[in-house]
Amino acid sequence: MKNVLITGTSSGIGYDAARYLLEKGWRVFGSVRSEEDAARVKLELGDGFVPLIFDVTDEAAIKTAVSHLKQHLNGEGLQGLVNNAGIATPGPLQYLPLEMLRKQLEVNVVGVTAVTQACLPLLGAKDNPLNPPGRIINISSVSGQIAYPFLGAYAASKHALEALSDSWRRELMLFDIDVILIEPGTVQTPIIGKFQEQIQRYMGTEYGRVFEPLAKQMAERQSNNMPVERISELIYRTLTVRKPKTRYPIPRRLLTGWLLPRWLPDRWFDWIAAKQLGIK
Ligand SMILES: NC(=O)c1ccc[n+]([C@@H]2O[C@H](COP(=O)([O-])OP(=O)(O)OC[C@H]3O[C@@H](n4cnc5c(N)ncnc54)[C@H](OP(=O)(O)O)[C@@H]3O)[C@@H](O)[C@H]2O)c1
Repeated sequence: MKNVLITGTSSGIGYDAARYLLEKGWRVFGSVRSEEDAARVKLELGDGFVPLIFDVTDEAAIKTAVSHLKQHLNGEGLQGLVNNAGIATPGPLQYLPLEMLRKQLEVNVVGVTAVTQACLPLLGAKDNPLNPPGRIINISSVSGQIAYPFLGAYAASKHALEALSDSWRRELMLFDIDVILIEPGTVQTPIIGKFQEQIQRYMGTEYGRVFEPLAKQMAERQSNNMPVERISELIYRTLTVRKPKTRYPIPRRLLTGWLLPRWLPDRWFDWIAAKQLGIK
């Protein structure tokens, strides 16, 4: 049986990836942050799911959880680590509280690094490993390569994750451990609702008039957001395909959500963004 650790399995992409990998016969270790979520997810996903309780910003809790993981594995290796847990902190950079920026980076960047460091021996990053090397899948975003307005903190965290992943991959060639990025566009998960709640705090600022059309556009688009199963299938593919690519963009719309924002000269894309937001 193959073993994978997925972080952030209480909802969204992590939950569905756990469900999908269990269906494919993997044993799934999934991180959650409360006893209630551990019991709920285990009840829903069945005995193949082993919950581990930790917050990715809590180094001591990660170490304890990984030592439980090691006991469960009982000498087997970890074939996959899916760094999925993450938050999205929207807001105009002018007013974004600095502690929210720190938190964004702490969870999406430092947290991924902490979990990866703790799991590396189980993935085979040591001399004379007993098991074949595992793979690390980092859930980035289109925001790992495109910086949309009012998503500066999130984009900074995902750009940092992209850079770290490239460095990790080149360093871990020493052990044949591959590091692969998945870069989704908007997916139907609770993160979108959390996002809409968070921008409410800026409605009273000069940016409020921009957020109203933005919130409307987001609500209209909601039914077109990608189903979470598409990401689960891709996670499975990246874990199992013989020669994975280094990154897998999976935008909601290929031309307008990926190619144009990256290929157009900066000022052209600025102009389009301003038009969409009704600024110009
Ligand atoms: N949905 C999208 O449109 C989209 C697009 C591109 C990339 N992504 C990325 O996909 C990943 C999953 O997001 P999602 O859309 O599935 O959102 P979600 O449903 O909100 O799930 C986020 C998961 O991360 C966990 N988490 C948050 N902070 C944590 C912390 N400090 N320590 C441990 N776990 C923590 C949450 O646990 P709790 O329930 O305990 O908070 C939850 O299980 C994120 O990295 C996100 O950036 C999402």
